[in-house]
Order: sequence, then structure tokens, then C-alpha cells
Amino acid sequence: MPSQFAARMDAMKPSSIRELLKMTERPDVISFAGGLPAPELFPVDDIRVAAERVFAECGARTFQYGISEGVATLRELIVAEMVSRAVACTADDVLITTGSQQGLDLLGKIFLDPGDIILTETPTYLAAIQAFQCFQANFQPVATDEQGIVPEAVDELAAKGKVRFLYVIPNFQNPTGRTLSIERRRQLVEIAQHRNFVIVEDDPYSRLRYRGEHLPPIKSFDDSGCVVYLSTLSKTVAPGFRTGWVVASQAIRDKLVIVKQAADLHTSSFDQLVLARYLSDFDNRKHVARICAAYGERYTVMDEALKQHLPADYIWTHPEGGMFLWVTGPQTLDTMTILASAIERGVAFVPGADFFPGGGGHNNMRLNFSNANPDSIRTGIERLAAICRVAV
Ligand SMILES: Cc1ncc(COP(=O)(O)O)c(C=O)c1O
Repeated sequence: MPSQFAARMDAMKPSSIRELLKMTERPDVISFAGGLPAPELFPVDDIRVAAERVFAECGARTFQYGISEGVATLRELIVAEMVSRAVACTADDVLITTGSQQGLDLLGKIFLDPGDIILTETPTYLAAIQAFQCFQANFQPVATDEQGIVPEAVDELAAKGKVRFLYVIPNFQNPTGRTLSIERRRQLVEIAQHRNFVIVEDDPYSRLRYRGEHLPPIKSFDDSGCVVYLSTLSKTVAPGFRTGWVVASQAIRDKLVIVKQAADLHTSSFDQLVLARYLSDFDNRKHVARICAAYGERYTVMDEALKQHLPADYIWTHPEGGMFLWVTGPQTLDTMTILASAIERGVAFVPGADFFPGGGGHNNMRLNFSNANPDSIRTGIERLAAICRVAV
């Protein structure tokens, strides 16, 4: 019988672990699975004051339709943020999106026809795979090492056939926590310019650096408009605002605005106005420093617990920021099959396979360390290690 759904839905399979991960909502399960920030660190009091000021200043206007590009005051504040990240731009270069997740969807809409080739790190962000799968993209996973994606491997693939874009998460990558070296950032721009493709730089985590120096974005090396830069206020303020942004060339932005109008007309006016007030009136830098101190401590607790409890043939990454680390077990380990018993025992993680569009990752798992407190992290890792010890 012919399907009642569009052909693109054939590639969109439900996640095999979603049902299992629903169980992580049980209070007895310590979850390292989600990508959740710590809610106790949301600046709730400051946001409340900002919201009150918006009501007093704007009244009913707070709830009026707005322009698709986004609220002007917020875009000005994003410009200042971009300048602090070594990217010069103006408010006209900024498009506010409903989270950076919407940015990914809109980029898929404007760039991808069925079968178009996109290059990604190996492994890469699960929800980006889902966003681009919707447009029937042909994923070409690229070799990736401790320094991030390997530029020579990008060049080799791009020489073989037309690439629409390269999708890359340069800082504290999701899922591995790895950071792309500065030299490679420069090289990627040169390759993109030479081979004539776009780089989609997805950068939600750069401000969550606990150790070491901030690195300039790939976008900062771009003098031709080949890099589209995405970021978000989800990790530095709160994800419930669903507010992110894109900085791109005018040609790309013009197309993005057209598809954004079709998608949602604009991002919530209320959310944007409150965020603009919050960012103007309160010291978000200080707030981010508090988040970094807490997450940095949680990372150290997890790293030490892993050292203490995991079998000797397990290794993991040592990110200098962000929210995740990436564990690699022995070849015989299948993290998908141990997930059910881990949840049974009161601990959850995301199995590695979900992050590999081309297959692989059976012996990997992603652990989030931002959402559980240090005591829970110690207990959770002890539980996980007990499962790992009997798994192989
Ligand atoms: C790499 C990456 N890109 C995009 C997003 C989506 O962020 P937002 O909340 O801004 O939609 C996330 C969220 O975890 C992420 O890890």
C-alpha cells in the first residue's frame, strides 16, 4: 500500500532509545543522558525583574507581532557579543532564530535538495542529523581526531563531488567534548573557499570554557561570506526562551528570512524583549562565570569518579568546557544493549551509535555532567561502572 506520508519520512526513523530514555524521568534514575543545563543556575530573579521592566515599558506592545529578523535591541546586543568573539558584524547581519535548532532546520531548507552531500564530524550532534535527514541529505562523515575534524579528509571528500555544506561544532563538541584547533579553523575556511562550499559553524558552547583560552570562531577567518555562524542563549541564559541567532552573508540571510517567515513569522517577541532587557540590565558575564565554575567542578568530579571506577580498558575525553564527555569502551562493548540494565540500576547515558550518521559508535557513550550535582555524579558513575564491569 502506498504510504500516506511524504517520501522524506522514510529516512526519519523514531529513535530506538527514546522509550528507554523516558524512564530517566523516574526520580531514582541519575541521568547523564540529556543535554540539560543546571536549572538551579538559571538567573530566575534577574529574569523576573527584566520581565517586569518590559511590561512597564512596552505594555501591550510586548505581545505584538514583530519583524522576522528579530527585535532590534536584542540584535544590537548580539553584535556586541559577536565582537567579543572576534567577529565584526552589524545588527543587519544577525537573524534571531527560535533556538539554534531552528537555524539548522532553516539552513536545511535553503541549501538541501534530496541526495545533496553534507560533510559532518564523526560523530556529530544527533538533532542536526535529524534536522538534515528531513531534507534527505546524503551524509558523508569525515575523519575526526583529538583536534577535531581533519581538514585533509574534508578536502579529499570535497574534491570528489559537489558538497553543499560542512557542518561543524568547533567548541566542546556535542557529543565528544572535543575542540577544533585554531590552525584547523583557518584551514577549513581556505578549503571551503577553494572548493566552493559553505561551512555551518554551530557554536552553542564556546562561552562555557572552564580552562584554557577562548579560540576565535571559524567565522573570524572568513573574508568571503562562506561561513554561517549559529549560536544561542540556551546555555548562557536558559533554553526555555528558545532564542538563538545566525550571522551570515546577506545572500544567505535573505533566503533564511524567507523560510523563517514560512516557518514561524518570527521568534517570540516577549522572549526577545525580556532577554534584551536582561542582557542590558544585568551582568551576564558574571552569570556565565558562575555556570563555568559549577560545570567545571562537575566535570572534575565525573572525571575522577571515572578514573576510580571504570575498568582499565575504558578511555574518555577531557573537555575544557561544555557539557559532555565521551567514553570509549573495549571493542566488544555494545552500549545500546547495556542501556536497559543501566537504567534498571538507576543510571542513564546516550549510546554512541545515535551520533554516527554512517554507522559505528557501538562501544561509545555520551555522558552529560552539567545537570547532576557532584554527589549524584559520584553515585551515578559507580552504578555505571558496575554495569560496565559485567558487560564484557
Ligand atoms: C550542537 C548543538 N547545536 C544546537 C543545539 C540546539 O540549541 P538551541 O537550544 O539553541 O536550539 C544544541 C543543543 O543542545 C547543540 O548541542
